[in-house]
Amino acid sequence: MSEPAMTLEPESSAPAQDTVTLTDNATGKSFTFPVLSGTAGPKVIDTRKLYAETGMFTYDPGYTSTGSCESKITYIDGEKGVLLHRGYAIEDLAEQSDYLEVAYLLLNGELPNRTEKLEFEQVITHHTMVHEQISWFYRGFRRDAHPMAVLCGVTGALSAFYGDSLDINDPQQRMIASHRLIAKVPTIAAMAYKYSVGQPFIYPRNDLRYAENLLSMMFSVPAEPYRVNRVLARAMDRILILHADHEQNASTSTVRLSGSSGANPFACIAAGIASLWGPAHGGANEAVLNMLAQIGRKERIGEFIKRAKDKNDPFRLMGFGHRVYKNFDPRAQVMRRTCHEVLSELGIKDEPLLDIAMELERIALEDEYFVDRKLYPNVDFYSGIILRAMNFPTSMFTVLFAIARTVGWISQWKEMIEDSDTRIGRPRQLYTGATHRPYVPLSMRG
Ligand code: CMC
Repeated sequence: MSEPAMTLEPESSAPAQDTVTLTDNATGKSFTFPVLSGTAGPKVIDTRKLYAETGMFTYDPGYTSTGSCESKITYIDGEKGVLLHRGYAIEDLAEQSDYLEVAYLLLNGELPNRTEKLEFEQVITHHTMVHEQISWFYRGFRRDAHPMAVLCGVTGALSAFYGDSLDINDPQQRMIASHRLIAKVPTIAAMAYKYSVGQPFIYPRNDLRYAENLLSMMFSVPAEPYRVNRVLARAMDRILILHADHEQNASTSTVRLSGSSGANPFACIAAGIASLWGPAHGGANEAVLNMLAQIGRKERIGEFIKRAKDKNDPFRLMGFGHRVYKNFDPRAQVMRRTCHEVLSELGIKDEPLLDIAMELERIALEDEYFVDRKLYPNVDFYSGIILRAMNFPTSMFTVLFAIARTVGWISQWKEMIEDSDTRIGRPRQLYTGATHRPYVPLSMRG
């Protein structure tokens, strides 16, 4: 192997500030960069002056080694399977808190006291209705449109209705836009579902809690009263908590990048929804169910495990693996328990897809390929089964993820706008295309 052109070493004599020195082996020149420490997690090399000083960029496709921002919202230790929101463990929040309290925490930085909690619930509840003209949009969509397409379109359209909360430089308008998004995205999502099945839209109910109201807008019909099942509402609330934020993932980074140009919050959240839709991200819970259906029976699991391991086959075990967690995803543990609670409440004993899922989980956790690569079941592996048991159509799974994540996105967006270090996001590249060449007129191209 040839000698690397650059070497990167920590400074040996401990300076007042941590630094690393980069040596360009081609010229012998050395450059020193500060090393920053957060309150937890790996240190970061501050490369903001790298280009100015060395004339070089970093190359990091997929940003696996790049910190794109400073944040105080969510901390993940993927090796240990830790997830904290504002310092609180996800397991504690899922067991002891509720979604709107977690939303308040993410948005404001602290858990609310009793009065703050009541006020927040009141504000969100009273923003749940959408402008009546928004309901007219739905008729323009095909009934068989994917609800993520509808959610993305209608959420983006909110900026055409709420002009009084588009000024991103006004803290009060930023907060109103945040409240509107947390409150209205479930309404928009439920309307997308009702439209797809040809049932009338159900208005939000202010006497219900957030998750209860979501179930009511989804599953009630005007012809009869709707009684909320407490176990299912609690499970829904937990699913929302577990998906509320997850640091700088693809959709959150999309929201931040869109917002860095000064775009309005409704447009930025629509961009986040678009990114979430992909099967490697939020689309995975839908893909898990499709995969389980494709497997069909337990006897065929071996065949699919074999395919997942075959590098020439694009098939991957959906719901397994994670970019950050190289240990059990702590959300998956809570989701697994919730999954059993829901199935027992609904009296579901022989659910073939669940049987396949459990067997798949068992085999994969013992298989050398998955063990060596630290591929554990992720949050989406179980959430799909719960949602199916609760009667959500598969196409709504990612939509529910988007509802839950809206608060994470908007909290991260707000933090970015309020950070004085924020500049428009503008990555650079390693160009490998043609260099300058003369234009050849069409008549001379043969
Ligand atoms: N099935 C089979 N092999 C896998 C899988 C899988 N699900 N995931 C990773 N691998 C293999 C991969 O082929 C590679 O093997 P090798 O080292 O021999 O080339 C190794 O594991 C590392 O994979 P990677 O692609 O470098 O890992 P990544 O961090 O780029 O990808 C991932 C993470 C989530 C995109 C990937 O694990 C995956 O596609 N999983 C299935 C989709 C899924 O469940 N996504 C939901 C993620 S959790 C929800 C969220 O937070 O959005």
